[in-house]
Amino acid sequence: MTLVPRPVSFAAGEGTVEHGVVETLFVDGPPQGYRLTVSPGGTVIEASDEAGEFYAYQTIRQLIGPDAFRVASIDRTPTMLPVCTIEDYPRFPWRGCMIDVARHFVPKHDLLRYVDLLSVHKLNVLHLHLTDDQGWRFEVKRYPKLTSVGGWRSSSRYGDRRSGGRTGRPHGGFYTQDDLREIFEYARQRHVLVIPEIDVPGHSQAAIAAYPALGVHGGDVWTDWGVNERVLNTEESTVDFYRNVFDELIDVFPSEVIGIGGDEAPGHDGSFVRQIAQHLVRRGRRPYGWDEIVAAGPLPAGTIVASWRGISGGVTAARDGHDVVMCPEEFVYLDYRQSSREDEPIPVGTVTTVEDVYGWEPMPASLTGAEPGRVLGAQANLWTEHLDSPRRLDYAAFPRLAAFAEVVWSPREKDPGFLDRLAAHHLPRLDALGVEYRPLAGPLPWQTMPGVPGFPR
Ligand code: ACM
Repeated sequence: MTLVPRPVSFAAGEGTVEHGVVETLFVDGPPQGYRLTVSPGGTVIEASDEAGEFYAYQTIRQLIGPDAFRVASIDRTPTMLPVCTIEDYPRFPWRGCMIDVARHFVPKHDLLRYVDLLSVHKLNVLHLHLTDDQGWRFEVKRYPKLTSVGGWRSSSRYGDRRSGGRTGRPHGGFYTQDDLREIFEYARQRHVLVIPEIDVPGHSQAAIAAYPALGVHGGDVWTDWGVNERVLNTEESTVDFYRNVFDELIDVFPSEVIGIGGDEAPGHDGSFVRQIAQHLVRRGRRPYGWDEIVAAGPLPAGTIVASWRGISGGVTAARDGHDVVMCPEEFVYLDYRQSSREDEPIPVGTVTTVEDVYGWEPMPASLTGAEPGRVLGAQANLWTEHLDSPRRLDYAAFPRLAAFAEVVWSPREKDPGFLDRLAAHHLPRLDALGVEYRPLAGPLPWQTMPGVPGFPR
């Protein structure tokens, strides 16, 4: 049997049936696609693959209602499903979210919860930004000071860096290699691929604090935010050090794609990035870097570029024959403020409302011929300078991440009913999941942070 589903089609039938045994058939069809048939005769999933089956089950939860998203049943009445047929498959293969676990560490159990939240939204990539100036979160057996020294800082800016305010409170944490293997496997079971990133040659002050010979100047793990001039030096010994670090990283992560950063490295010419990229290719992996690496070229074949400074880096990379992930800061930087209200907590960046995210079209209009096929998809980025707890992450991520999930899954045409559906159907699911999202009407009193300065643009 061949499955030729239409994207997100819903055909309602008559009445409801009791939710019982679900039968799955694997059939030929588009990757991650499924047809779900609910009838008085039973519920059948026809799935192209295991991801398609998993997504059909997420859809069944949506049909049941918000209580299906609680971790335990609270209802003694039979669970009912509407009679219907749903055919569905994703528009893009890469539907990602980056979480910066370096600026503020995200403890393992909270990260696992985010894996759950991504998978509920049919997102399938978790890009983990594991290192930055302010902290190194990946255990490296050969270089233990990366975490014992680089894994914590003495204090942090409280709010925008121009403010002068500091917490005076040490911050730190790291994942052991076995923690990361566990996170990878937990995510794999939920059809989320974890892609790790070690950022070079900028954003490396934590590593330099641990091993000063890596840097141009010394310095402690950074207690400030922003672009740091103190980058890695270009000594062969430093490149070798990082080859060893990446070797441990690829031993932990079976992911074909491995992040190398490459962003915001004042004074660097690209040779460092190229050498690390080539090393990964020799090891059978695909390097993945921020769009600054386009200028570091020629990059090895297979390199993937994340277009964050608008879309031009992605367009250039696609024209150069590289695969691309779109994540322009003006649409999908979810740490940016959600409205122009004065009571947005630590308002930074440009206004990025849930409507802005939903209205975004990831495919650059200027790509032609084979080039659009190089756009693997998109990712939303959660930088955590100002998100120091899971509650703050929830506020920044949701409901915008739900809007993003719909953009990368659904056909290009927008649904004018999106906000109504969000309010009527999806926010109650987030409530059941215990997500402390930003209400559409604005922050709750305890979600505001009076007096902590931002820097709105
Ligand atoms: C970035 O926002 N520096 C990738």
